[in-house]
Amino acid sequence: MWKSRTGINTPRNKIPQPEWKRWHVIEDLIKTRGWTRGIELGVKNGKTFLHILKFCKEMHMTGIDLWEPHESNLPGTNWDHKKNLLYVESLLGQLFDFNDKRFDYNEDRYKLIKGRTDQAHTQIDNKSANFVFIDADHQYGAVIRDIELYEPKVTDAVIGHDIDWPDVKKAVEDHYGDAYTVRENDVWVHYL
Ligand SMILES: C[S@@+](CC[C@H](N)C(=O)[O-])C[C@H]1O[C@@H](n2cnc3c(N)ncnc32)[C@H](O)[C@@H]1O
Repeated sequence: MWKSRTGINTPRNKIPQPEWKRWHVIEDLIKTRGWTRGIELGVKNGKTFLHILKFCKEMHMTGIDLWEPHESNLPGTNWDHKKNLLYVESLLGQLFDFNDKRFDYNEDRYKLIKGRTDQAHTQIDNKSANFVFIDADHQYGAVIRDIELYEPKVTDAVIGHDIDWPDVKKAVEDHYGDAYTVRENDVWVHYL
């Protein structure tokens, strides 16, 4: 039995545990491995991107998203891309206090690229980041393509989301075999 400061006794196994989300896993990896630069493919409304910039003060993040409807979009979703991009920009504004420029501000902490992942890769130098987080198009061919295009850009790890999706799992295993680990919230990690 665990005695809390309030005096209420709760069995240890009944204490609610905080649920780890993908951004907590990446924060943990960044902090334990001392990473300073990352790339996120598929930013959407910035849940992961903004969490990293807020809680990992040494980090520079590059985020790539088309922020427009496109054929490669995830099935079953009908996102408001305009709203998502405005939301990311407005929260970045609160975080960094910029006022007018778009897309090229605060280059010392982040860069947003509005485009397809299979085109935007040309804007990123090889071995210029510690990790890439792949979370854009979840179709088999697209995940393979993102792995192949972005692995050369990083030095430490290729990470992705939704390993519970059959297409994602098949792509990861066709490329890496069993050389990957699964973390909380269906995050997969291949260390280079
Ligand atoms: C699952 S959401 C990303 C969630 C985000 N990573 C997070 O952790 O909150 C997928 C995003 O990928 C973008 N996307 C899908 N396919 C893409 C592609 N081929 N190129 C660029 N962005 C793409 C979509 O616009 C969408 O915003």
